[in-house]
Amino acid sequence: MQKIRKAVIPAAGLGTRFLPITKSMPKEMLPVVHKPVIQYVIEEAYHSGITDILIITGKGKRSLEDYFDKNNEIENNIYLDDLDRILDELNIFFIRQKEVKGLGDAIRYAESFVNDDSFAVMLGDTITIPPCIHELMAVHEKYNAPIIAVERVPWEMVDHYGIISGADLERDDFLIEHLVEKPSPQSAPSNLAILGSYILTHGIFNAIQQTSPGKNGEIQLTDALNILNCQQKMYAHLFSGRRYDIGNKPDWLKANIELGMQDKELGKDITGFIENLCRK
Ligand code: UTP
Repeated sequence: MQKIRKAVIPAAGLGTRFLPITKSMPKEMLPVVHKPVIQYVIEEAYHSGITDILIITGKGKRSLEDYFDKNNEIENNIYLDDLDRILDELNIFFIRQKEVKGLGDAIRYAESFVNDDSFAVMLGDTITIPPCIHELMAVHEKYNAPIIAVERVPWEMVDHYGIISGADLERDDFLIEHLVEKPSPQSAPSNLAILGSYILTHGIFNAIQQTSPGKNGEIQLTDALNILNCQQKMYAHLFSGRRYDIGNKPDWLKANIELGMQDKELGKDITGFIENLCRK
């Protein structure tokens, strides 16, 4: 079976939950400790063996493209050197989503980039610890089919997420039966929420074409996946780690705390500070 080498990173969303900052900067450029969210996503892809990345941008997202230029003028900065090393080995492409019409619509723009290959989808505003896409690749090798990462969320929160129902398989895997976007807690088939990492196959593009606007009038990827699920087997995998949706303020703050405490340079200081605060 072919290894996954291509990743699509949708980053065209408006980021309204992070207003007013997102009036003039993309949420993907929000700093988490000392680098923007999008760099964590790119690094996760790189360390998982991805070589080709398509970032889907849109209005007001120009700074994302500028960020991935190499910096020959500024020398001897350890952080820039790290990024430049990765950029040397990756091919990064950009395409603009013409209108913000939903995640399903955004993925549609990747069709000619992925060709017939299976590919990873990683949201441009989501950090996973440890890297979720790496975990999904191992599951994909087992089933050779589309795989969706899920996490359990509190029942009262299911209406914020795409939710799956499925039959339990070995080791935290599920054979998907049904997917539904933002169901009410009363109607949700489970509390297994789609967290934003996927491995998909070419069939998704046909399914997106057949998908009508759903919740919020947008073309929802979850609805397209439901169509695809009627045509082929699909699996979900319960992610073993933590994911931070940086587009929401509490998650942004929590990610800064966790990664700040782990940071080589700042960790000791931040950990001492948090311990002191907790004692008060
Ligand atoms: P979100 O659900 O986080 O929506 O999108 P959003 O518009 O970005 O943010 P809010 O809700 O207004 O605060 C999930 C992912 O899908 C991308 C986003 O960039 C994010 O990575 N997306 C969403 C697109 O690329 N295009 C779209 O039309 C919608």
